[in-house]
Amino acid sequence: RKKVTIQSLREQAVAQTPITMLTAYDFPTGRACESYGIDVTLVGDSLAQVCLGYDSTTRLTMDDMVHHSRAVARGSTSPLLVADMPFGSYHTNVEDAVGNAVRLVREGRVEGVKLEGGEEIVEIVRKLTSIGIPVMGHIGLLPQRHTSMSGYRVQGKTAADAKGILRSAAALQGAGAFSIVLEAIPHALGSYITSKLSIPTIGIGAGPGTSGQVLVWDDVMSTWSGHQAKFVRRFADVRSEVEKGVMGYIGAVRCRTFPDTKKESYEMDKAEWDLFL
Ligand code: KIV
Ligand code: NA
Repeated sequence: RKKVTIQSLREQAVAQTPITMLTAYDFPTGRACESYGIDVTLVGDSLAQVCLGYDSTTRLTMDDMVHHSRAVARGSTSPLLVADMPFGSYHTNVEDAVGNAVRLVREGRVEGVKLEGGEEIVEIVRKLTSIGIPVMGHIGLLPQRHTSMSGYRVQGKTAADAKGILRSAAALQGAGAFSIVLEAIPHALGSYITSKLSIPTIGIGAGPGTSGQVLVWDDVMSTWSGHQAKFVRRFADVRSEVEKGVMGYIGAVRCRTFPDTKKESYEMDKAEWDLFL
């Protein structure tokens, strides 16, 4: 497979070939994104809930993110590999943000970082891009701010709110972001912002008019049992396969049909066995 680059993503957007982005959290999921042709693999901080059992992305640490990014990176070559900067890792000051982004690149082995926010984080985005760390923006619904936003709600439904999101998009592009995730906004706004930017937009609940789409692995595979947003489509039912596997194993062990003496066990020469006895 050809390596996906910031330039090839831009070409894809210009050619109107939708960009596919999917989250991955470990070696096997990273490997799957690699093997089946995903363009951008995101080690999302949804890692917090779907893999680590935290109740919010705000619990995720830099150590958690570095550890999982590295595992994904071991299985990933062709897709552009991006990691979310955890809540708090880019909010204190520019120096901390640079240090943490550098850690994700050097230790986590990712190629770019994603940051939630608009005009208030532009200074940080400008600094990171100026020193050669590719930045993906993320505006609209910001899961890291779910408490101050009073939940996970659709954004940009009023004219004033929509204007604010458009301004954020322009500011992030101006600061050097190579792409922007648009989360949970009206589809007309998703298309409009996409038409006004020269960098690709990646939508999640932003309608079909963005340059690409992203979903969370566990939503796609039906392995997440929590809330399901309107924008989720389940493309596979891995949960029922897992149930089949675990229940089948328990059943076979309990009724002694597993393991089979001939097919699933080892033999010993009769002579050796007699000596042993
Ligand atoms: O954390 C995540 O999984 C994300 C995407 C779904 C955009 O940020
Ligand atoms: Na995220």
